[in-house]
Amino acid sequence: MNRFENKIALVTGSSQGIGAACALRLAADGADIILNGRKLDERGEDLIKQITAMGRRAHFLAADVSHMHNVVNLVRDAIAVYGELDILVNNAGVEKNKDFWDVTEEEYDFVMDTNLKGIFFGIQTFVKYCMSNKRGGVIINMSSVHEEIVFPHFAAYCASKGGLKMLTRNLATELAHLNIRVNNVAPGAIATPINKKLMDTPELLENVLDNIPMKKMGKPEDVAALVAFLASDDAKYVTGSTYFVDGGLTYHYEEQ
Ligand code: NAI
Repeated sequence: MNRFENKIALVTGSSQGIGAACALRLAADGADIILNGRKLDERGEDLIKQITAMGRRAHFLAADVSHMHNVVNLVRDAIAVYGELDILVNNAGVEKNKDFWDVTEEEYDFVMDTNLKGIFFGIQTFVKYCMSNKRGGVIINMSSVHEEIVFPHFAAYCASKGGLKMLTRNLATELAHLNIRVNNVAPGAIATPINKKLMDTPELLENVLDNIPMKKMGKPEDVAALVAFLASDDAKYVTGSTYFVDGGLTYHYEEQ
């Protein structure tokens, strides 16, 4: 499928996990890709090889998106690489497992700056570019089921994803007249390195699977398929909401 012919996409935090799957899926569907991570390593180099083997262009930009000046420069540099930018996937995210009463300011900032502040100013830079070039754009924010449901011991993470829920609602309304669409994708439990401890601990995993009607974890490709739909013109009337990819986790209820 070539639904992203002549489209350029930036995917933040795309060295591994969901971000890498999104980059590969968008490329498979025809987009040229700007990859991002804190630094280029063999995973990024391998992705560049895979994407170029598909006949698409790929370029890696190193930047820590938790700092405002870095994320602003990342989006500007991404536009400069191929001369334009159509799709912004704000995927990079971090979490901290800690009792609420022990969370330090540094840990709070680490989570909030990556998951919310960096996205806020990355979008702002993209929107300024769209406005000054009189062009529309598509923004997809990688949220979480935890923009909606609680996650004890992950208070900063929940606050960041809850904030992202309202940021998306707000921006979809404010930017609709500019032909810029903004949506959230909310994964449930997806098999990526962020969940290594969960996947390596059978009793933790069993507990999680008990809460998932489909009784399995999702794959990064499951999330990427939804991202590709939202990024495409098939979703041209879709903005301002959140789409769950969670095996039924969020609205799960069963009588014992
Ligand atoms: P991951 O930890 O496997 O990958 C995240 C990537 O983002 C890594 O390559 C990491 O280096 C990069 N990254 C983190 N902070 C960064 C920064 N400041 N600047 C640049 N790159 C940075 O995580 P995963 O599972 O692929 O998660 C991706 C997104 O999906 C995150 O926003 C996460 O919150 C969200 N998510 C994941 C779920 C899951 O079960 N895996 C569930 C719900 C949401």
